[in-house]
Amino acid sequence: MLTLDLTNAQQALAGSNLSALLERVPEVHRWIETGADPRPGRGYLGWRDLPQRITDAELAAQAACGERLRSLAPICVVAGIGGSYLGARATIDALPGPGGARIRYAGHHVDPEALALLMAELRETEFSVVVISKSGTTTETAVAFRLLRDELMRRHGRKGTAGRIVAVTDAARGALRTLADQEGYETFVIPDDVGGRFSVLTPVGLVPIAAAGVDIAGLVAGARAVMTAAAPDPEYLPYRYAAARTALFQTGKRIEVLAAQSALLGSVCEWWQQLFGESEGKDGMGLFPARVQYTTDLHSLGQWLQDGPRNVFETFLAVDRPAAGVAIPPDPDDLDGLNYLAGRDVAEVNRAALEATRFAHLRGGVPNMTVRLERRDPHHLGALFAFFERAVAMGGYLLGVDPFTQPGVEAYKQAMFALLGKPEARFAEQAEWQQYQGQVPAVGSLPVGEEGAA
Ligand code: PA5
Repeated sequence: MLTLDLTNAQQALAGSNLSALLERVPEVHRWIETGADPRPGRGYLGWRDLPQRITDAELAAQAACGERLRSLAPICVVAGIGGSYLGARATIDALPGPGGARIRYAGHHVDPEALALLMAELRETEFSVVVISKSGTTTETAVAFRLLRDELMRRHGRKGTAGRIVAVTDAARGALRTLADQEGYETFVIPDDVGGRFSVLTPVGLVPIAAAGVDIAGLVAGARAVMTAAAPDPEYLPYRYAAARTALFQTGKRIEVLAAQSALLGSVCEWWQQLFGESEGKDGMGLFPARVQYTTDLHSLGQWLQDGPRNVFETFLAVDRPAAGVAIPPDPDDLDGLNYLAGRDVAEVNRAALEATRFAHLRGGVPNMTVRLERRDPHHLGALFAFFERAVAMGGYLLGVDPFTQPGVEAYKQAMFALLGKPEARFAEQAEWQQYQGQVPAVGSLPVGEEGAA
């Protein structure tokens, strides 16, 4: 069961445009279902029925690949960025368990020091690689993959390397497809009609998730339950959430903080951040999707949330019935003064913290909603992915943007390619770039007392 509690947003929504937005739900639902919206992103609607379309044979092939990777090496490196890694990471971090390969991530940055540390770790152990890129040309992923492949080739030769790499990419296009076909890697295809940030239930997410030992069938079943319940109905929970947050945006809220009340759901918030940031942040619109983890961040951002600018609302993400109980032991000396909690479970403390934070922040002027998962398991996580995907599609359209494109992501790449001298790079803003580079640098420096130290 997944529930949405809007109690603490009622007052903020009272004078808002919520009713008018809810009235638009049936029309927008039809756009989502039929691709009737004429904007470019309508070609990316494949996520809606992905969980219904996946066949048992496809799931079995992905699960078998995961099992093969698990038996091959203790570590599996997942190389991908953005939509090509966040869903897998969200799931793997949320559902840790025994029996899976230990997952490391690469290809989501170009930090030389972090990459060097990873390569040093991998030099000491056997590892496999799942490389994921829809375009097949993403620089961060391609750089990391070249390093990983180079290390495997040095150790196992070309033939031995091929069996240790799985590529998830386009059916026909891109450098990764060419390389994979030529080298004979096992490959999985990313459907054309599913954008990166909606791709967690394709092999993009499912292959690494299976390698980590998580039940992918459960994940898909949970998502299927939410997707098949979609209807032109303002009561459908993802649409209610979408309408409520859009109404809050229209009352002047500019930031939505997704607050995970479980320490294991932090990466889910990161996945959500990309889903909403890339889908809604365009044409000058969109809530800034911020993420925090409570109670941890109450000790760093609690002050700001309680008392800072009031252009923010929160969405709490809570697990109602945690699987593991941790009872607080009694102590005859009670020097830490905690005996009032002796015999009670840490879950009770977490629940109290959630209720107290919801109340305190509401009183401080931060309306809040709560999404509750009954349990933290594959079914509920799959349902949560579907809940947010449905919501962002509805929310983007209610906001008046095309939720399925991300033209802004390209802007930095052209300048970076020009700087790095990529042969076929075409840079439309060449003149502005040269002028920008010709500026007199305005740089200050501060001695740190270690000049000249290595
Ligand atoms: O959501 C998106 O489209 C992006 O985050 C992409 O997934 C990301 O840029 C990686 O792209 P690719 O899979 O082509 O390497």
